[in-house]
Formats: sequence, structure tokens, C-alpha cells
Amino acid sequence: MANFFFFGFVLIFTVTVVLSNETQTFNPKLEWICETFFISLTVKTDLPFHGIIHSSGHRSDCAIAGNGTILTNMIIPFGGKNDKCGVKFNTISETYWVEITVHYHKILETEYDRIFNVTCDKNIIVSEPEFNFLLIFIEFL
Ligand SMILES: *[C@@H]1O[C@H](CO)[C@@H](O)[C@H](O)[C@H]1NC(C)=O
Ligand SMILES: *[C@@H]1O[C@H](CO)[C@@H](O)[C@H](O)[C@H]1NC(C)=O
Ligand SMILES: *[C@@H]1O[C@H](CO)[C@@H](O)[C@H](O)[C@H]1NC(C)=O
Repeated sequence: MANFFFFGFVLIFTVTVVLSNETQTFNPKLEWICETFFISLTVKTDLPFHGIIHSSGHRSDCAIAGNGTILTNMIIPFGGKNDKCGVKFNTISETYWVEITVHYHKILETEYDRIFNVTCDKNIIVSEPEFNFLLIFIEFL
């Protein structure tokens, strides 16, 4: 019994170390091209990406998992019946926009997850994260 608990402790500790080490360089960048009926989105990471990218609130029907590459592509359809990602339209600025969440981990919710506002009023836009959880994390170390 004692051995079992000891093993469990070691396992959890190891996962924590790997997470905090790698996430210090987890700094995804988004680039996208707005087409007429879809957004072609590319997420760039410094390290191979094994997490998940999805439209906020649409994790089950508008998501793509990383394959361990540093470039991950995702197509976000919008307009007509093809609005599974929940793309919104701002009538004042006449821009389409959708909130995209980049999860560091495929299953776990971590404080390194980033949220981006992907908008379609220019052809190519590079965005910085709206909420920088990593900086908050470092401050409390
Ligand atoms: C932490 O990162 C450094 C440099 O990036 C690497 O050499 C080291 O092996 C990593 N440690 C763990 C536990 O992943
Ligand atoms: C990852 O690989 C699978 C199987 O080859 C493929 O279906 C999927 O689209 C790939 N994901 C990305 C983000 O490229
Ligand atoms: C995203 O950007 C669009 C266009 O500027 C804006 O209308 C929308 O409110 C923004 N969404 C968020 C969540 O900030």
C-alpha cells in the first residue's frame, strides 16, 4: 500500500515538472487568412504542439488537435449553414470575429491556455494573446 502511494506521488510530481518547464516556452502565435467562406488559421509554436485548438464554446464541433508539429492548420468555416464555429459579425466595424482558444494540453485545462480574437477585416493579421497567463504564472513563482 505504501509503495502504491509513493509511486502515485512520483508520477504526479514528474508531470508537474515537465509542464512548468515546457510551458515557459509555450508562446503560440496565430496567423490567418480570411477567405470568402472560411478562415484559414495557422498556429505556430516554438515546440512541437500536442494540444488542442478550438473556437471558444465549440470544443466538441470546432476543434483540431496538434500532431506534434510546430505549425498546426485549422479551417474555420463561416456564413450560411456552415457556422459550427460560432463566428460573429460586428455590424458597426463590419468585421467577422471568433474567439479561438489554444490549449497547451490535449485534455487538461492549464493556466497556459491562450485566447485569441481572430478577426476578418484585413487579409493577414498576426495577433498577440489577449490574456497572458504565462506572465501571471511567472510573477507568482
Ligand atoms: C527543461 O528544459 C531544458 C532546456 O529547455 C532541458 O534541457 C531540460 O531537459 C528540461 N527538463 C525537463 C524535466 O523536461
Ligand atoms: C493530424 O493528423 C491526422 C491524421 O493524419 C489528420 O487527420 C489531422 O488533420 C492532422 N491534424 C493537423 C492539425 O494537421
Ligand atoms: C474581437 O474583435 C472584434 C472586431 O474588432 C470585436 O468586435 C469583438 O468585440 C472582439 N471580441 C472580443 C471578445 O474582444
